[in-house]
Amino acid sequence: MTFDRSIKIAPSILAADFANFGAECRAVEQQGADWVHVDVMDGHFVPNITFGPAMCAAIRPHVKTVMDVHLMIAPVDPYIDAFAGAGADIITAHVEAGPHVHRTLQAIRGAGCKAGLALNPGTPVAAATPLLDLIDLVCVMTVNPGFGGQSFIHAQVAQIAALRAMIGDRPIHIEVDGGVDPVTAPLVAAAGADVLVAGSAVFRGGAADNPAPYGAAIAKIRAAAAAAQA
Ligand code: DX5
Ligand code: ZN
Repeated sequence: MTFDRSIKIAPSILAADFANFGAECRAVEQQGADWVHVDVMDGHFVPNITFGPAMCAAIRPHVKTVMDVHLMIAPVDPYIDAFAGAGADIITAHVEAGPHVHRTLQAIRGAGCKAGLALNPGTPVAAATPLLDLIDLVCVMTVNPGFGGQSFIHAQVAQIAALRAMIGDRPIHIEVDGGVDPVTAPLVAAAGADVLVAGSAVFRGGAADNPAPYGAAIAKIRAAAAAAQA
């Protein structure tokens, strides 16, 4: 079976209405989202605090697609079982989060989830080389993690292309996270990314009870990316 490298849009609910997460998740899925991206921040690994396993468990019944949990926390290992138990399909840990990322990735798969590896803009993609057999996804940060609505770091496009060459035919998704919109989406798709996280570009201008702008944004990002896909 060929690995699905078609463009997938993963709206980041960091840009959604925090008081209405369930309805927001249902709305973006009804409007075409392929995955739902959940940004977990601990105020330590990144200078912001969002939510934890309890919130993930609360939204799980409202996410019918893929719950893609991006952990911007350190340490990671003590919390893997809690996020797996909350219903995460994919748990992504940062390579910079601790000295034992090999063990962390094993533990994520051991908990029954797909394992993702995230790389900050300052980290060379070569850091993923010894871990390719342990991962299902690499998340290339195109902003410094911690906030939505930041500007896209163009220097990361070359890193995505290098990673795509490194992965070859392996069944590993390349996810891009930060500053993705209809202008930057073709750049990352042409370089080899297949999962595009988008927060402000999707949720801006809409609401759970007025979701049409979500659909228009998702369709625009998907069309721009698909047209440029390598
Ligand atoms: C940032 C998060 C991103 C962020 C993306 O640390 O990991 O997922 O929410 O938001 P935008 O698309 O607005 O840059
Ligand atoms: Zn994220």
